[in-house]
Amino acid sequence: MHYVWLDADPGHDDVTAILLAVYLDNIKLLGISTVHGNSSAYWTGVNAARALYAFDAPGDIKVYPGAVKPLTRKAHYAPNIHGEDGLGGVVGIPQPDSPEVQTRFACHDDGSIISALEGMVTAIKDTWKSGAGHKVSVVSSGPMTNIALFISTHPELLEAVEQFVFMGGGVGLGNATPVAEFNVLCDPEATQIVLNCPVKTVMVPLNVTHTAIATQAIHTRLCASVDQDSTSNIAPSTDLRLMLSSLITFFAHTYKEVYGFEDGPPLHDALTIAFVSNPDLFRSRRYHVDVECHGQHTTGETIVDFWDFEKCDETWGVGGKNCLVLESLEVERFFDMFLDCADRCDRV
Ligand code: BDR
Ligand code: CA
Repeated sequence: MHYVWLDADPGHDDVTAILLAVYLDNIKLLGISTVHGNSSAYWTGVNAARALYAFDAPGDIKVYPGAVKPLTRKAHYAPNIHGEDGLGGVVGIPQPDSPEVQTRFACHDDGSIISALEGMVTAIKDTWKSGAGHKVSVVSSGPMTNIALFISTHPELLEAVEQFVFMGGGVGLGNATPVAEFNVLCDPEATQIVLNCPVKTVMVPLNVTHTAIATQAIHTRLCASVDQDSTSNIAPSTDLRLMLSSLITFFAHTYKEVYGFEDGPPLHDALTIAFVSNPDLFRSRRYHVDVECHGQHTTGETIVDFWDFEKCDETWGVGGKNCLVLESLEVERFFDMFLDCADRCDRV
C-alpha cells in the first residue's frame, strides 16, 4: 500500500488525479491540501471538496486549505485554461457554500479549519510514528508553496517521506512561457527548495504529460456505462460520467484554443498518482535538475543536466542527481487505469 498526501490546485486535471488517488487499490489517500495556482486558493480548496463529493470519497479524506500566494512572488492564475473558478464548464458539482462542500474541509473541535501545513504534518507524523512506520509519498499537482513550507519548517519529518512526486517542469519545453511550465513558474523558489531536499524527488514533466491525451476515443469509452458492451454511445450514462465528460470537453476546448491541441487535453496531473501506484508504466532516469529563478527570459525553466556536465553523484538533494525525471509513458495502460477508476467510482 502507498500512503499518499496530495497537494493540488484543482483544476480539471487535478480532479482526475483525485479520482485515481481515491480509487486505486494500492493507494491510501491521507488528505488533500490545496494551494493557489489554477485559480485562487479559495477556489482550489472548494474544488478539491467538490471533487471528493462528486467521487463519493470516504468521509475521512478531507481538504486542508493552504498558501494563497507563492513564497516570494505575486500569485497568478490560469483562467484561460481552467476558467475563473478553476473548474469552468464542469457540471454536477455542488455550490461552494453547500454542506456537501463545507463538510469536506478538515476542522478542529472548535470548528476552525485545519490548514495545509498542520494537516500534512499531522498525517505524516501519524503514519510514520504512531502507525506501522509507513512512509508517505507527497504528491504535488500544483505550485509547490505548501510543500516547500513543510520542508523548511519540519526537516525532522523528511525521514518519513518516501518521495516527492510533482507534476511540473519540462525538458526544453514550457507552457506558461516558451521554457517554463505553469506550476514551476508560479513558484520557482518553492520548486528549488523541494529539489534541494535530501529526499527522492520525481518530476513528471510536460514532455510526458503531453502524451496522456484524453482523445475522443477515450472520451467515448468514458461515457459508456460500466455494463454497456458497446462504446459507440457517446451520451454519458451516469452522473459521474456526465461530470467527467463535461470536464474533458471544457479542457479540450481551452487546450485547442490556447495551444492548438486538436486531439484532446493532456491529463497532466493524473500521471503523478499513476506513477506512485505503478512506476512500471513509465521509463525514467535520474538527472541533476535546478530551477531558473532569476532569468531574463527563462524564469521558471527546469534545467535538466542531461549530459551530466556537473558529474553529479547518486545522492538526492544539492549537488547530486537529485531528480528522477519521467521520460515516457505506456499511454494505453494509463488510460485503462483511469477508466477502471471511473468504473469503480460508479459502482460505489
Ligand atoms: C499544470 O498546470 C495546471 O494548469 C495543470 O493543472 C497542471 O498541474 C500543467 O502545466
Ligand atoms: Ca494542477
